[in-house]
Amino acid sequence: MSKFTNTETALIHGGISIDERTGAVNIPIYQTSTYKQDGLGKMRGYEYSRTGNPTREALEALIAELEGGVAGFAFGSGMAALTAVLSLLHSGDRVLISSNVYGGTFRLLSKVFDHFDIAYTIADTEHPDVYETQITDDVKAVIIESPANPLMTITDIREIAEISHRYGHLVIVDNTFMTPYLQKPLELGADIVVHSATKYLGGHSDVVSGLVVVNTKELAEQIAFIQNSTGGVLGPFDSFLLIRGIKTLAVRMDRHVYNAEKAAEFLLAHKAVKKVYYPGLESDKGFAVNRRQAKNGGAMISFELHENYDIEKFFESLELVSLAESLGGVESLVCHPSTMTHASIPADIRKKVGITDGLIRLSIGIESIEDILADIAHAIEKAEVQK
Ligand SMILES: Cc1ncc(COP(=O)(O)O)c(C=O)c1O
Repeated sequence: MSKFTNTETALIHGGISIDERTGAVNIPIYQTSTYKQDGLGKMRGYEYSRTGNPTREALEALIAELEGGVAGFAFGSGMAALTAVLSLLHSGDRVLISSNVYGGTFRLLSKVFDHFDIAYTIADTEHPDVYETQITDDVKAVIIESPANPLMTITDIREIAEISHRYGHLVIVDNTFMTPYLQKPLELGADIVVHSATKYLGGHSDVVSGLVVVNTKELAEQIAFIQNSTGGVLGPFDSFLLIRGIKTLAVRMDRHVYNAEKAAEFLLAHKAVKKVYYPGLESDKGFAVNRRQAKNGGAMISFELHENYDIEKFFESLELVSLAESLGGVESLVCHPSTMTHASIPADIRKKVGITDGLIRLSIGIESIEDILADIAHAIEKAEVQK
């Protein structure tokens, strides 16, 4: 429980925000691997930085407070965070995953955890009644992304959590696209929240990192043990950068979302655009559920152009918006999911879940919306195939 009623304040003052020894208003970067012991077994709270580091600890306390969990853990990437969470499972177990989760999550399950006989099923978390029919005896956990990447599909987290808990399954939510400023999955019934903090939490495309928050002491002990045993921890400097990024999350997100809402309306009205996927649009199929569980639709938009537009030309013609992997930084980025973020998903599965080769994904930044829209409009114009 946060002592702050408002997330905006917790972002700045939550966790351990003042250095106890000096009063410094920023937690120092404890760039040390080890700590002097005063005698055998006489530690001053720290023994080795894989096990614990004060800068990382400040970040871990902060994310735990923001997500409303019992404990937080920082890792060297979002994938390292997911790896630690999946390490809770045993051979013979199965995980259900939302269709169109991040390609790397799919790859981790299909190409790494399969070596350990941990299976997965792509499940229809969007439709709870169908979802329940996909549960088999070996299922132990579900991984939800809402919005899911890249079709922005919305899952009713409360409802899937309610079904899953009846079967004793762990409910894991990847909250990367929303952040705790827009959505708090633990309050909706999830057991574990995972982040690629590389994205909005860091916010400046300058650090790769992952975070985990759990809602029970038992899970906290298990993840702490896995974190220390497998060792994919976040370094002190990167922990500092993340704390710094998180302080401005509210103002950045407000601007990201303001811009994204304008961009989604612009795309929806454009004659070249065939389809827009954005849960902040009232016409979007996920709008109502998203409204119930999140503050707004976030700032990720996917769309498709009509057939008479050449998407390679579209990407090449953008000048302000950069073609790049990743999302959630202050700068606008665009990507082509089928050859970039979701290339590790086989083509037949991509097709089945609706990730077409024409799909374009936008991470709307915080630049002037006029400049962003002018750049997109110009690239669309250039992409039109002349008859
Ligand atoms: C939703 C989501 N989860 C997890 C990841 C993996 O995070 P990282 O790249 O920090 O390892 C990503 C990366 O793009 C992502 O978009």
